[in-house]
Amino acid sequence: MPRLVFVKETVAHERRCALVPEQIKAYLAAGADVWCETGLGQSLNIDDETYIKAGAQIASSRDQLLAKADVVCSVQRLPQEDLSLTKTGAVLVSFLDPFNHPDYLQQLCQANLTGMSMEMIPRISRCQKMDALSSQASLAGYVMVLKAASQLPRVLPMMMTPAGTLKPAKVFVIGAGVAGLQAIATAKRLGVTVTAFDTRAVVAEQVQSLGAKFLSIDLGETGQTEQGYARQLTPQQMQKQQQGQADCIADSDIVITTAQLFGRKPPRLIDDATIARMKPGSVIVDMAAESGGNVEGSIAGEVVYKHGVSLIGSGNWASDVARDASQMYAANLFHLLSDCFDLQQPLSLNFEDEVVRAAVITHQGAIVNEAINSHLQKEVA
Ligand code: NAI
Repeated sequence: MPRLVFVKETVAHERRCALVPEQIKAYLAAGADVWCETGLGQSLNIDDETYIKAGAQIASSRDQLLAKADVVCSVQRLPQEDLSLTKTGAVLVSFLDPFNHPDYLQQLCQANLTGMSMEMIPRISRCQKMDALSSQASLAGYVMVLKAASQLPRVLPMMMTPAGTLKPAKVFVIGAGVAGLQAIATAKRLGVTVTAFDTRAVVAEQVQSLGAKFLSIDLGETGQTEQGYARQLTPQQMQKQQQGQADCIADSDIVITTAQLFGRKPPRLIDDATIARMKPGSVIVDMAAESGGNVEGSIAGEVVYKHGVSLIGSGNWASDVARDASQMYAANLFHLLSDCFDLQQPLSLNFEDEVVRAAVITHQGAIVNEAINSHLQKEVA
């Protein structure tokens, strides 16, 4: 029976955790042995006793837990200093951000640890229950709207009062993937007028079905990858997009940017000159601030002011709703582990399985993931 170990998060401001008590029953039923580091649920106000009652075992020594683990689960990747303490051959499962941290991947190899990356789970029907990118992005979309609303010196819905009529706020969402669509839905519920744009034309219908307007900008051929991700635009297309959306940005009270390119830096979509055209007091939320930013001048983890406009770059959005985010992440993780492993048997990895092939990055001292290896080769070239 494999020993699954859930450790406390060590990254500053990370309030999520990889196991909520409600999920333990399913692990036990699947045959796993569930161990938690003491204080695992502290950031969610869940005490050790609640985990114990649900069937988990609690240990106070993180080092000893790691030394005996078959699988170590967390939200953020384990800190480097934990790697040499972890049992050789153990499987680490978390967000790894593997495209951006090649040194960390080498450290996993040196410690002979198998690294499974939640980001790399393929976007196929079988994997919807395991898709932590989507569950967390959806919550991020919701949080971004609330953050913008609390920063905006206006109300969002139309209000007809004896003191006059307040017009509904205007929101523009750039990037209508999982986070963007949730941001649109949340903003609509709050009574605002929403416009959205995405380079993948297939998204227009989804935007409209949420009651928002899709901004039409003719960029020529944009297409999408087999996995449904956006392709990088040419510099000419980028320029066309920036021109095509500038008036809409200038006219909006809130702009939310969620544009990402899988495995690459996010595109820079809003420059300083466009920010200067916005009304004072307007708000821009840059979902990508932590990974390079969609917006010129946004700073990861901060709210900054440019030309009277607030640029919100808080990052780690889902952590703001950590209880729900943890519940969803814990469910995603359970579905991944129970689908890819027989939790009643000693762990073995089946590389014939497309999910294992896509999500496992390091194994037996080497980087075994095709997408990551080809990315690393391009970086060297
Ligand atoms: P993402 O986080 O990689 O990107 C967010 C959005 O930014 C995307 O919609 C992308 O088209 C857009 N974007 C990129 N460059 C842009 C630009 N210059 N201007 C405006 N928008 C730009 O994408 P996410 O949210 O992870 O979803 C990617 C795709 O995967 C979507 O088609 C989604 O429907 C699909 N998906 C499929 C699932 C499945 O199980 N089949 C599960 C989840 C997502």
